Amino acid sequence: MSSTPRVALVTGANKGIGHAVARRLGELGMRVYLGVRDGERGRTAERDLRADGLDARFVRLDVTDEASALLAAKHIDEESHRLDVLVNNAGVGGSVSAPSEVSLDEVRRTYETNVFGVIAVTNAMLPLLRRSQAARIVNVSSVLGSLAHAAARHDPTGVFAEGVFPALLEYNTSKAALNALTVTYANELRGEGILVNAVSPGFVATDINGHRGHLTPEQGARVPVLLATLGDDGPTAVFLGEDGSDTGRELAW
Ligand SMILES: NC(=O)c1ccc[n+]([C@@H]2O[C@H](COP(=O)([O-])OP(=O)(O)OC[C@H]3O[C@@H](n4cnc5c(N)ncnc54)[C@H](OP(=O)(O)O)[C@@H]3O)[C@@H](O)[C@H]2O)c1
Repeated sequence: MSSTPRVALVTGANKGIGHAVARRLGELGMRVYLGVRDGERGRTAERDLRADGLDARFVRLDVTDEASALLAAKHIDEESHRLDVLVNNAGVGGSVSAPSEVSLDEVRRTYETNVFGVIAVTNAMLPLLRRSQAARIVNVSSVLGSLAHAAARHDPTGVFAEGVFPALLEYNTSKAALNALTVTYANELRGEGILVNAVSPGFVATDINGHRGHLTPEQGARVPVLLATLGDDGPTAVFLGEDGSDTGRELAW
């Protein structure tokens, strides 16, 4: 293992769970790139973490723009030459319309960020991740993306009552697709020591849900950080949920 610090990229790191994940990885001694689409928001987030002595570096990244992902990879390559951790955190919510009333444009918009954005960023970063001796990819998903739990109408986190599982077509199916991506990438990369896992961070008070969640962003960052710091014997292709325990709880896909 090289003696230089581990290098991480967190997408959507200007606020919410992504910002808390970036802070924690910085506190663990990593150099953390904050992938943020807006310059002012990115520089503010960078200043915030640097003020606490962390090696945080803003890199402009709009995950819906493949060229932006490639430019971000070029920037990281020039400065740091490799990437050890990629946290695909950037995400958007969807409308609360019933599936029968959903707008196809809204579905496309949600998929651009939550699904296609993850492919664009992952593929742009893979040449850098392949230079790491122990790369980790963490996809920030949601229990709402679990087909098993949706079919059983059972929310293992207890946020929704038994028999109630929100039918949010855009969001839930985008996270189900993200889960499928996770397993697919994990299977391609398992021979290369790159561990790829998905996480459900719990119901966290952030802008995405109008701050209705009951966990803080720091609490929501816990399991993503656990997966970002797995040892070489750690799992790949698992879906881990926040449950207040030290290890997190494995969820059904
Ligand atoms: N909060 C929860 O209870 C919860 C539960 C399960 C899963 N999640 C997942 O957790 C992740 C983080 O969400 P959050 O709760 O922290 O919400 P949030 O506070 O709204 O943060 C979302 C982040 O994603 C960024 N983003 C959105 N579109 C982007 C794009 N095209 N390019 C780059 N960045 C983009 C946002 O940047 P801007 O500020 O520029 O918009 C923001 O930094 C999401 O994937 C979400 O689905 C959240």
